Amino acid sequence: MSGKTLSLILISVLVFSIAASGCIGGEQQSTTSSGTKTKLEGKIVFAVGGAPNEIDYWQKVIEEFQKKYPGVTVELKRQATDTEQRRLDLVNALRAKSSDPDVFLMDVAWLGQFIASDWLEPLDSYVERDNYDLSVFFQSVVNLADKQNGKLYALPVYIDAGLLYYRKDLLQKYGYDKPPETWQELVEMAQKIQKEERKSNPNFWGFVWQGKQYEGLVCDFVEYVYSNGGYLMKDGKPTLNLPQNVEALQFMVDLIHKYKISPPNTYTEMTEEPVRLTFQQGNALFERNWPYAWGLHNADDSPVKDKVGIAPLPHFPGHKSAATLGGWHIGISKYSDNKDVAWEFIKFVMSYEQQKGFAMNLGWNPGRTDVYNDPDVVAKAPHLKELRAVFENAVPRPIVPYYPQLSKIIQKYINAALAGKMTPKEALDQAQKEVEDLIKQYGG
Ligand code: GLC
Repeated sequence: MSGKTLSLILISVLVFSIAASGCIGGEQQSTTSSGTKTKLEGKIVFAVGGAPNEIDYWQKVIEEFQKKYPGVTVELKRQATDTEQRRLDLVNALRAKSSDPDVFLMDVAWLGQFIASDWLEPLDSYVERDNYDLSVFFQSVVNLADKQNGKLYALPVYIDAGLLYYRKDLLQKYGYDKPPETWQELVEMAQKIQKEERKSNPNFWGFVWQGKQYEGLVCDFVEYVYSNGGYLMKDGKPTLNLPQNVEALQFMVDLIHKYKISPPNTYTEMTEEPVRLTFQQGNALFERNWPYAWGLHNADDSPVKDKVGIAPLPHFPGHKSAATLGGWHIGISKYSDNKDVAWEFIKFVMSYEQQKGFAMNLGWNPGRTDVYNDPDVVAKAPHLKELRAVFENAVPRPIVPYYPQLSKIIQKYINAALAGKMTPKEALDQAQKEVEDLIKQYGG
């Protein structure tokens, strides 16, 4: 086919799609990737997990989508809260080449593996067909995580970055006019306030964060490491046992065992939700969590409503604050038997209205940049705009096909150090060795 014929075909497909994208004769219609006009119909399965309130919210999104497309049914497949369980659930279905789920949310941390495994349908032909505007999404995140080898595989539903939540009222009560900028300041404030508050509340802790052996621990570790000038990999080689990383891990250990401002169950139980609940029940001064905690802390039934401030995480002296890049991306299974409906669902989820809804109702940091200037969003979640630099400079975890295995090694050794079973140096030396072996297996 000549280049000219190809461009003519492309132009006619484009014109046709624009014409067909509206509501024709009162019924919502769509075009298939071959360009044929069809009424959108059939069933898709959408797999999603998260905090319980988040999954409930997805049910509402689905209902609105079904109202718009009466011929379509979307079945919600409820997944776990934990990212690794969500990943395993999808990996099982994809390895079995199952046509369900058709569409799902993926942690930014495992996109590398999903793309390398060829489990995702490239979205480029849909984008072209619908003349879909990609420029409204965070370009840095799309380029980093959703595109590989020039193809687009997913879109960012929301972007996470680690943040420091603090009790405004308590800082004020004890004479502090702003949140801590360095980790050492955080320790000083937490020790002083914890001591005083314990007199009336024996369950009070200075600082709660994610220390259990799971993915969230890697996210927290990255923040201490980078805010001390360290890093996990360079030029494809692991650098886990750098002295600045050992120092950062020592500080995490000290938060629990030396300064005693973080509870001992940090390394056995603390994932996002227990951390959030401890803070929300009024039992902590500082909390490290993702943006979703904001909406829940300020809900009408929250004991800390209107008492919470939010700031970038502290850093070590002479270094800069660092937040881990998290977040969830939507993509279509290569084995889906209803990709057109799945794509229409993605467009719906990424629409201005839905993205605004996520920010307003869940406190999520939308993947669409135009929503940030919306007056309702600015009024309800002012930190999203104020902390934009934190989101834009967030540090990604290594984007490699073997990330899940890499993460497991890091989790195991960081957690062993937190539990006092190994010194930070021993733990990171051992992790370094195991990661080097892992990379060898992958031909690195
Ligand atoms: C959040 C982040 C995700 C991270 C997970 C760890 O869901 O968005 O990227 O892996 O927390 O628990």
